[in-house]
Amino acid sequence: MSQRPSSGRIIKAPENFLSPAMIAEVQRGRRDFLRGAFASAITGATATVASRAVAQSTSLGDPNILELPEHTKGLGQPVAATPYGMPSKYEANLQRRESPGLTRVSAASVSFCPLQGLFGIITPSGLHFERHHQGWWDIDPTKHRFMINGLVKKAKVYTMDDLMRLPSVSRMHFIECGANTGMEWGNVAVPTVQYTHGMLSCCEFTGVPLSVLLEDCGFDKLKGKYILAEGADGSSMTRSISIERALDDCFVAYAMNGEMLRPENGYPLRLVAPGIQGVSWVKWLRRLEVGDKPYATKDETLHYIDLMPDGTHRQYTSIQECKSVITTPSGGQTLMDRGYYNVSGLAWSGRGRVKRVDVSFDGGRNWKTAKLESPVLSKCLTRFSIGFNWDGSPAILQSRAIDETGYVQPQMRQLRQVRGTRSIYHNNAIQSWKLDTNGEVSNVHVG
Ligand code: MTE
Repeated sequence: MSQRPSSGRIIKAPENFLSPAMIAEVQRGRRDFLRGAFASAITGATATVASRAVAQSTSLGDPNILELPEHTKGLGQPVAATPYGMPSKYEANLQRRESPGLTRVSAASVSFCPLQGLFGIITPSGLHFERHHQGWWDIDPTKHRFMINGLVKKAKVYTMDDLMRLPSVSRMHFIECGANTGMEWGNVAVPTVQYTHGMLSCCEFTGVPLSVLLEDCGFDKLKGKYILAEGADGSSMTRSISIERALDDCFVAYAMNGEMLRPENGYPLRLVAPGIQGVSWVKWLRRLEVGDKPYATKDETLHYIDLMPDGTHRQYTSIQECKSVITTPSGGQTLMDRGYYNVSGLAWSGRGRVKRVDVSFDGGRNWKTAKLESPVLSKCLTRFSIGFNWDGSPAILQSRAIDETGYVQPQMRQLRQVRGTRSIYHNNAIQSWKLDTNGEVSNVHVG
C-alpha cells in the first residue's frame, strides 16, 4: 500500500476511493470508474489526468451500468465473517498519520486525524487523533482504580463497576489539542488539512459527571477551588481545572461512540473537559484531587504556555477559541474540472455553539454565509457547506466562524499582532487554501 501523504480527493468522496492498483489501471485505460460526485482525486501530477480520464469514460454506454457485476449474480459473504466490522478495503488509505514534519520521541508522538476524508461531525473511533506523552497502554479494567482525595469529607476509591452504577450522561464534544495548527505559527505551511488541523476529533462520550462524583465525596464547597486530574501512564500527566468548570460540564468517560473507550484514547477512563484544550482531557484517569489553588504542574508551567511578544508567558489559556477550516477542497487535493463543487468544512468553539460561518473565495475580500448542518451543539464540531461554481480562475478559499458569544475567528495577521510569532499553542487563525488554474489546492499564508 502506497504511503503517499493523505490528501487528494476532488470532491466529497473518501480520498482513497481508488487504491494504488486501481489508479494504475485507470492510467492504463483498462477500467472505467464512476464519475462526478464519486470520482476521487489522486495526489500529485497524475491526479488531474487520471480524474479527467474517469470523467470522459463515463457515459450511458458505460459497462459498469450496462453489465451485471459478479456481486449481483453470486453469493455474498456470510454474517459474522468479520465479528467486529471493518471499513471496506477500498478505504484502506484513510488513516491517521504521523506528520512528516514532526519527529517521534520514543513512544511520545502524535497521529493526525484525516479530516479531509470524513463526513458529518463524528470521528470514527479508529480515526480519532492520538497524542501520547509517554506511549499508550491497554489497561485491565478490573484492576483500574480511580481515587478522589484532597479537600473532601471522605477520600474514595472507585472500581470501574462502581463508576458504571452511577448516573451517567452521553454528550457529543470536540477535543482539540492546544498545539493543533501549531506549525503554522512559524510560517511552515504544512501540505494538508490532516496536518494543519488534524489534532481535532469529535465523538459522543458517556460517563459520570464530576458534579455527581464530587458530591459523592463531600468536597469542600468553601475551600475547594481547583481539581487536579492525574493519569496512570508514565508521563505524570497532571492538569488543574477550576471547580466551576469541573462542576459545570466535565465528566469522567468510559465510553466513546457507543462502546468502551479505545486504549489509545484512555481506556478504561478519561476526563472529558468540554471546550478545554486536549491536554486537560487526562487519559487513563486514576485520581482527582480537590485543592484550593491551581497546582502549577510541569504541563502547566513548562508546556502548554504561550510565549508572548514581550517575552512573558501566558499560562492556563485553556479554552479553545472559535475556529473553522474548509476540509473539502483542502491542501493536496485537485479539482477535476470547472463547475459546481460543494465546499464543506468544520467549525467549533470552546465557549458554546457556532452561530455563523462565512466563506470567502477571494482571500477575504468578499464573504458569503455558509449553511450550518444540524445538529449545532455546544462545544461540538459543526459541519458547514456552501456551493461554489469554479470557473477555472485562481481563488483563495477561507472560512471564518463566529460563535454565540459574538467572537469572530481572526485573520493570521490579527492573531500575530497580539500573540507574536513564537507561540506553539492556540492558533485559531483563518486558514487559506489556494486554488490554482490547474485545479490544485495548496496551503498558503495570507495577510
Ligand atoms: N493523558 C495522559 N495520561 N497522558 C497523555 O500523554 N495527552 C494529552 C491528553 N491526555 C495525554 C493525556 C494530550 S496533549 C492530548 S491533546 C489529549 O490527551 C489527546 O487525546 P487523544 O489521544 O485521545 O486524542
